[in-house]
Amino acid sequence: MTIMRVAAVDEFGPVENLRPRTMPVREPGPGEALIRVTAAAVNPADLGMCEGRYRWREPVRFPLVPGYDVAGVVEVGAPGWPVGTAVIAATAHSRTQAGGYAEYVTLPTEYLAPAPAGLDPAHAAAIPLAGLTAARALAALNLAPGRTLLVNGPHGSVGGFAVQLAEAAGVEVRPSGPVDGVLDVIGGAAAVAAFAAVRDGGRYATVVPEFWVAGGVFAPARGIEPVSVLVEPDGLRLAELSRLADAGVLRPRVARVLPLAEAAEAHRLLAAGGLRGKVILKP
Ligand SMILES: NC(=O)c1ccc[n+]([C@@H]2O[C@H](COP(=O)([O-])OP(=O)(O)OC[C@H]3O[C@@H](n4cnc5c(N)ncnc54)[C@H](OP(=O)(O)O)[C@@H]3O)[C@@H](O)[C@H]2O)c1
Repeated sequence: MTIMRVAAVDEFGPVENLRPRTMPVREPGPGEALIRVTAAAVNPADLGMCEGRYRWREPVRFPLVPGYDVAGVVEVGAPGWPVGTAVIAATAHSRTQAGGYAEYVTLPTEYLAPAPAGLDPAHAAAIPLAGLTAARALAALNLAPGRTLLVNGPHGSVGGFAVQLAEAAGVEVRPSGPVDGVLDVIGGAAAVAAFAAVRDGGRYATVVPEFWVAGGVFAPARGIEPVSVLVEPDGLRLAELSRLADAGVLRPRVARVLPLAEAAEAHRLLAAGGLRGKVILKP
């Protein structure tokens, strides 16, 4: 049995619960690959899961290793994914409970995409979750070239990628309404303000589903059908994002790189806000 270093929590609660420890590596089954993690990104959902503000598909297994985003290298391969391939992946933590805050992670190969050849692991790890969410949200908004878009958190991870992808698709990004489409990445009062910026008959999507209450504030109004976007693991779409990163269209930003053992500090940094880029953990 191979033992790896991770950062994990033994119970839900304050950030101090997130501590370095060791765990066995899970051997890959059919259709899975073992990835040696070279960088893991920290996402708001990681904070929520450790605090216990999170909806799980299955009962939670402790110790719980957070981490939705990894860059790494295939250590035990599978068809199409030979040993040594540099990859990125969203770990689909809510399904798999397989966290990236670890030396190794075992994932279904359909979650994997080739890493962008021109990016270092830290920048590559910043792509999967936020990139897939932004791409899915823009697909839901379905704005044609020349249409206008407002993103209410354009400096965040999802918002930043949404702006880059929209502009590359010929959509005009504006700081205020009225616009053809709005993407809410903040929720709460900011979501209400963003909804008001959509022109009558326009489009509205939010990636903050906690805020979404069916029949609530965002019931269809003024000819606008609100959409709540939930990211799904999708290796093929992630491979396209990887290509766009290599083409310079997608430009991930990294604010801080910390050693894995400082995962709790990484969570504190993200919680404090004001970052312009991802916090990255290096095993
Ligand atoms: N639906 C899905 O599948 C899905 C997937 C991924 C993420 N998400 C959610 O999407 C949201 C954004 O994620 P992210 O990774 O982009 O987070 P992020 O990188 O931390 O970005 C959030 C952005 O929103 C800004 N912001 C937060 N609260 C604000 C407020 N009250 N007023 C103005 N600006 C505010 C932040 O600015 P400051 O830092 O300056 O405050 C930051 O620029 C999170 O809630 C996350 O859980 C959902």
